Amino acid sequence: MTKDMNDTDATRRNFIKAGMVAGAAALLTPVLAKTAQAAAPVDAAAPAAAAPAAPAAPGAKLKMGDVLRVAREKLYPICRVCPECDGVACAGEVPGMGGIGSGQAFKNNYNALARIELVMRTFHDVKKPDLTTTLFGQKLSMPVTSAVTGGVTYNMGNKMTEEEYINSILGGCLDAGTLGWVADGIGDKMEVFERRIAVLKTQFGGKGIVTIKPKTNEEIIKRIRMVEEAGGVAVAIDIDSAGRAARAVPGQTVEPKTPKQLAELVKSTSLPFIIKGIMTVEEAKIAVEVGARGICVSNHGGRVLDYTPATATVLPAIAAAVKGKTTILVDGAVRRGQDVLKFLALGADACLCGRPLVRGAHGAGRDGVALIMNTIKDELTVAMTLTGVADVRKATSNIIAKVQA
Ligand SMILES: Cc1cc2nc3c(=O)[nH]c(=O)nc-3n(C[C@H](O)[C@H](O)[C@H](O)COP(=O)(O)O)c2cc1C
Repeated sequence: MTKDMNDTDATRRNFIKAGMVAGAAALLTPVLAKTAQAAAPVDAAAPAAAAPAAPAAPGAKLKMGDVLRVAREKLYPICRVCPECDGVACAGEVPGMGGIGSGQAFKNNYNALARIELVMRTFHDVKKPDLTTTLFGQKLSMPVTSAVTGGVTYNMGNKMTEEEYINSILGGCLDAGTLGWVADGIGDKMEVFERRIAVLKTQFGGKGIVTIKPKTNEEIIKRIRMVEEAGGVAVAIDIDSAGRAARAVPGQTVEPKTPKQLAELVKSTSLPFIIKGIMTVEEAKIAVEVGARGICVSNHGGRVLDYTPATATVLPAIAAAVKGKTTILVDGAVRRGQDVLKFLALGADACLCGRPLVRGAHGAGRDGVALIMNTIKDELTVAMTLTGVADVRKATSNIIAKVQA
């Protein structure tokens, strides 16, 4: 993203200035609109009037600066679209885009990755590094998928419909040659899940991975059947949502799972089953034992338990224990291609990118998501060339200069 921002006039300084103007406008708008709103009741389910999409004249190249500007106009103050998405400005904003409580777990993710330095090596013949990989039978242009981000209403300010949002995430990822994930938000009723699965099935022929909250096994299996019917690529449980029962829809619940319960879920489907929210070697090993085809090392973007360590901190030990026995995914503050390379060097097979794609979707829909993914791909290509990594499957810790606690 940095690269594209430099390509446009959205330098860091201009970016902040533009943000202040947009922010002030966003703050004033509700005040000015108050009278009109009082006369016309708002349907909470209907998306609010959207800011215009980023200008894209036919054939014109979409610019990152425009995408982020429109995203800020739409999302402010829920997301300030900061020059660095590091968890500082939005600390404590859950629901919203931040990390829970002090926001430290989100900041830990960002800071730990930022502290990792890459060794530059240029005496080699890696001119065209191979970024491609295969994930759950799907050939991808790079080892990066979307993360799981749900809650257009309660997390993102109700500026897009579910259908528009899922279409942007899944479509933008596919356009960039990779895969998107479909969420099951903690506050979402079954009807919302059904709408998402309908988009997955009818618009994308099932090309996406679906996450399900840790509800009762019976409820989860009901949803797994829907994913199977839609032709989904894989299914996941975000087990780290287990402590959020208070935010669940009335009548629903979420709960931790025993290894036996997890094994039942894995056995209930022929789809690859992924356990998202692994932060210890012990649970990574259990995930392998119960037959999970993938784990996602994740602290849920710092949104579920304050003061958890960064995913970059726990990943190396987890990878040392289970590499090759299950697919190791990781998320948490992937912002650039360099972050992807760092995670690969720490032992991941692929990583997930969350908040930047929320901005992309709000800034320019499917094209905005594709632009962000393609920018990450360009950055990853450069980073591999300058560290001498020929193949994403062969990145090792010898490209890491130092990892500080
Ligand atoms: C607005 C928002 C909504 C999210 N919703 C979900 C969700 O429904 N299910 C889930 O497993 N994770 C959810 N997450 C967590 C992400 O999947 C992911 O773990 C995290 O955001 C990755 O970090 P990043 O956003 O810093 O890239 C959400 C994150 C955000 C920011």
